[in-house]
Amino acid sequence: MTTIDGDAPTPVFVSVRPHVRESATGASDEKAERLAMPESGPLVDRYGRIHNDLRISVTDRCNLRCVYCMPEVGMTFQPRDALLTFDEMIRVARVARELGITAIRLTGGEPLVRKNLPSLVQRLSALGFDDLALTTNAMLLTPMVTSLKDAGLKRVNISCDSLKPDRFNSIRRRGDLQTVIEAMAAVEAAGLTPLKLNVVILRGQNDDEILDFAAFARETGRVVRFIEFMPLDAQGKWDNSQLVSGREIFELISARWPLEAIGNHNSAPAERFAFVDGQGEIGLISSVTQPFCGTCNRLRLTADGAIRNCLFSDDEHSLRDLIRDGADDDVIALALRRAVWEKYPGHAINEPGFLSPTRSMSMIGG
Ligand code: 5AD
Ligand code: SF4
Repeated sequence: MTTIDGDAPTPVFVSVRPHVRESATGASDEKAERLAMPESGPLVDRYGRIHNDLRISVTDRCNLRCVYCMPEVGMTFQPRDALLTFDEMIRVARVARELGITAIRLTGGEPLVRKNLPSLVQRLSALGFDDLALTTNAMLLTPMVTSLKDAGLKRVNISCDSLKPDRFNSIRRRGDLQTVIEAMAAVEAAGLTPLKLNVVILRGQNDDEILDFAAFARETGRVVRFIEFMPLDAQGKWDNSQLVSGREIFELISARWPLEAIGNHNSAPAERFAFVDGQGEIGLISSVTQPFCGTCNRLRLTADGAIRNCLFSDDEHSLRDLIRDGADDDVIALALRRAVWEKYPGHAINEPGFLSPTRSMSMIGG
């Protein structure tokens, strides 16, 4: 679309960055284009996907610098007054709940670097979500785990990409493995089970630990979820050669310990597999090689208050600006509805010319 006349061209946002597929299914997309956005009922998009899961990033800051996420130095963060306050997050969560959001996951950056997180958990818990979970690197978790549990937290996911101390340091650059291992035990002692671990596998860095992690899952009962490296690193260094596919991971593990699919994938990102001998389970999050966009039910609220309908789409709507301009709940609800409605059918990572999104994982919320 271009403006060819007039001296004050209307600013029009035209995305030339192919982050997301505009058309995944041909004719049915044309039909989807003609549909009108419903003004009531659940949060649904043009492809019929109902959204009931909201990820809230409470900060873009982090105490680690994982190689697949941030550069070692030079990461810039939002000024504090750009971040949503807890009151603002609660406001969005309350409106979202009225629109059918049933699950909340707190993410970052590293959520535990935000002060008084248990008070946010307690206020979210009081709103009555079915699920209230936290994804953390666990460096600050052990002393806080009881207060988080008492505040109403239901589940914890800990990221941990190596079981070898030196390797942990080279991938995460800060922090230490021992603290994370202790936090795992603290989470279980607090009864927040089963504990899930997120492991990003990088070719040539920790792919030799896939079987060690599978053994760890078998020995501990912790659910190890192997995540494909996604083009969401702030350095923009992602490329396919560093990615180890979920399929490759599956083949390696199942050759040693047979696996069987369990549960139904539905809208959960992880495909779940149990060890046939009953010794625990693993998950595969194959976001790149086997996208699960068709059943995506997730919506994200960035730390600076933008609602984002896809990790890989730069389209965002600032709820913070609406709230600070005095918007009432109906206006916030409409913005949430519109954000979901405008969601694309899928990402375009595997298509020629794909460019990584402008904001990286720690700025969006995992
Ligand atoms: N690719 C895959 N996973 C990533 N994470 C952070 N950056 C990436 C990336 N580029 C993971 C973290 C954490 C979760 C929120 O996202 O390991 O477990
Ligand atoms: Fe921090 Fe998580 Fe990013 Fe690692 S992946 S640098 S822990 S936000």
